[in-house]
Amino acid sequence: MIIRRFLFLYFLAASIALANPLVQEMDQAQPDAAELQRAKEQLEKSSPEAVETPLFVPPFHKRKDAQALPATFCRSCHQQNPHRSNARKRAFLNMHSRYISCETCHWWPEGEQLAYAWMQVPGSSHARGMIVPRLKGEPVLIAESIPWARVLKQQWEEADEAGKVEIKAKLHHPLREKGPGCGACHGNEDALLDYGLLGYKPQRARELELNPTARFIERTEPRSADEPVRRIHIRDLLE
Ligand code: HEC
Ligand code: HEC
Ligand code: HEC
Repeated sequence: MIIRRFLFLYFLAASIALANPLVQEMDQAQPDAAELQRAKEQLEKSSPEAVETPLFVPPFHKRKDAQALPATFCRSCHQQNPHRSNARKRAFLNMHSRYISCETCHWWPEGEQLAYAWMQVPGSSHARGMIVPRLKGEPVLIAESIPWARVLKQQWEEADEAGKVEIKAKLHHPLREKGPGCGACHGNEDALLDYGLLGYKPQRARELELNPTARFIERTEPRSADEPVRRIHIRDLLE
């Protein structure tokens, strides 16, 4: 009986995973030589400790509790603060990642029309859960608990160096290296998210569209690596 039930749940979960278009893209990915080479260099350079070290001191009343993370597949490798390299944006991006799924910012399949909606995900910091993309009415988020994700995590842990290179390259083949700029959600036009459909009241939607912090960060983003980074002063935000 228990085994039958387990098998039923397993196949149910497996069929959900199969129906997930992102999982399909990852399974069928054929990374080219450049992607494999890049993954190889990244894995040679990165150490798991570096990725897991907290970036900043948590608020003092939370210091003892490890902060809960959304229970998603991406988090099984990218634990605390996945955004590190862009010092001006990383705090915002890491904060957003607690209620906006990685897929929302890093997965934009070509030629597909996506919509965005809330979904309850354990570990999210937002009462409504997380904003996730929806394709043909189905939410696209890879939960940590689905069998596909668990099998992959185990393969990753057991893989040798070459195996890890292959897994990293396949998993990231359908993803965008960089997410959208702040203006994509906090700009006036062509907003990625429809705040009304997400349930925000018109006044709050307007506030989010015109958010001065996000607009400032976007406006002053250095356009090239040579351009000096502009320091942020409170008075700039009030301009
Ligand atoms: C099995 C482990 C693993 C999983 C699961 C995983 N990643 Fe990664 N990811 C990596 C590694 C390793 C790197 C290279 C890291 C580095 O150089 O710091 C990386 C790099 C990235 C990058 C930088 C661009 C690139 O391709 O190198 C992005 C963006 C990213 N991951 C997003 C995601 C998202 C979104 C998910 C979930 C859909 C995810 N990752 C799941 C291991 C993983
Ligand atoms: C609100 C949008 C947004 C969300 C949500 C988001 N990202 Fe990103 N991500 C970005 C942007 C924008 C960049 C490019 C930053 C830059 O300018 O270098 C980026 C870059 C990265 C990088 C490159 C390394 C680095 O230090 O920046 C990794 C790795 C990454 N994201 C992983 C993730 C993972 C894993 C998640 C989910 C836990 C996630 N992202 C959620 C927008 C997002
Ligand atoms: C994918 C869409 C998306 C992107 C990209 C994005 N944001 Fe947001 N941001 C949101 C949403 C949604 C909220 C509101 C969440 C809530 O409180 O319900 C928000 C809230 C905020 C807030 C708090 C505003 C308030 O009134 O509560 C700030 C500040 C902010 N974002 C700054 C940024 C910055 C800076 C960037 C770029 C580094 C950025 N955002 C990129 C969607 C986005």
